[in-house]
Amino acid sequence: MVMEWQESMCIDHGGLDADHRQQHELIRRFVAAPPLEEERDLALGCLHALRKVTLRHFTREEAVQRAIGYPDAREHAEQHRRLVGLLDDIIDQLERGDSPFQYGYLKGKTDEILQFWFFDHFAKADLKLRRHVERFQARSASS
Ligand SMILES: [Fe+2]
Ligand SMILES: [Fe+2]
Repeated sequence: MVMEWQESMCIDHGGLDADHRQQHELIRRFVAAPPLEEERDLALGCLHALRKVTLRHFTREEAVQRAIGYPDAREHAEQHRRLVGLLDDIIDQLERGDSPFQYGYLKGKTDEILQFWFFDHFAKADLKLRRHVERFQARSASS
């Protein structure tokens, strides 16, 4: 079971939140897919969709950081690059037909890794953005 999406996870009440919800939903769908060989393509479809949403999201999030003068933008962008690399490895492993592990085993491992992949960065890095976004939004509203 993937942790539910909560209102307390909102950052900008806009595009970033919409992206995060989409990422979260795709991970939820992946985890919900049965760990059966015949469902491999369905699960991989979720991962490819997640990759696409994620690339678009990272571009957007980095643009927001530039716009608001976020101080940790460089380190944050490096984390994004690493996350893309990790996701590529995850997809690659599930796509390879020559793995010595059965699909069901790999799928179970991926269920866990994928949640960590999303929530760890989200909780440790993305949530720090909120206070900067709010300050920026308040300043923009009053000028
Ligand atoms: Fe991020
Ligand atoms: Fe994010």
